[in-house]
Amino acid sequence: MTDLEPSDPWDLVRDWLPPNENPERPQMTLSTVTPQNRADARTVLLSEFDQEGFYLHTDALSRKATDMRANPGVALTFLWPGFTKQLVVQGQAEVAPAEEIAAAYADRSPYLKQLAWLNTTDFAQLPLDERRIRWAAFLAEHGDGLDQPPTWIGFLVRPSRMTFWTSNPDAPSRRREYTATLNGWVLRYLPG
Ligand SMILES: Cc1cc2nc3c(=O)[nH]c(=O)nc-3n(C[C@H](O)[C@H](O)[C@H](O)COP(=O)(O)O)c2cc1C
Repeated sequence: MTDLEPSDPWDLVRDWLPPNENPERPQMTLSTVTPQNRADARTVLLSEFDQEGFYLHTDALSRKATDMRANPGVALTFLWPGFTKQLVVQGQAEVAPAEEIAAAYADRSPYLKQLAWLNTTDFAQLPLDERRIRWAAFLAEHGDGLDQPPTWIGFLVRPSRMTFWTSNPDAPSRRREYTATLNGWVLRYLPG
């Protein structure tokens, strides 16, 4: 049984996650450590992945961006419906290449493109009616062919460990943990 496991965890990632072309993007919990050494976490979309790692996009002025710049050690947690599977990635975050960041913005829905422009603290203070009016006015003025805002940023998380948890209706859950070493990925099994 052991020798049937992929020696490369990317085979499992490709098997578990939808392809990058799928417009329905997976959600994941991004855990970071603040400059004050406190843990923080929030849900973000996985924009895409490749053999280098996992890409996410956000506002350069956000807390998570500040956290990742101060402390690149992060974790990503993916959970599948029905608690059937969980993938936890530990890794190092770095700013993604500019072309990748631009391509991810171009791929975002018209709503998310506009949100990236209006996702400010000042805007968040306004009552809903006012936010609706300003949202509609922005759309009327700019249409949906928006350029990338200056605060749009992307991060690449290069994994150092990937842990695949699977449940089973008639057997204990267990984890396959792949750790990156100088000689490639090392697999070990852990209880659930
Ligand atoms: C389902 C879902 C998907 C989200 N996707 C993103 C995303 O891809 N990028 C992002 O910046 N925020 C996303 N958010 C909002 C974040 O969870 C978070 O509230 C926001 O980015 C501010 O986080 P921060 O203050 O910790 O930086 C998403 C929220 C939800 C509920």
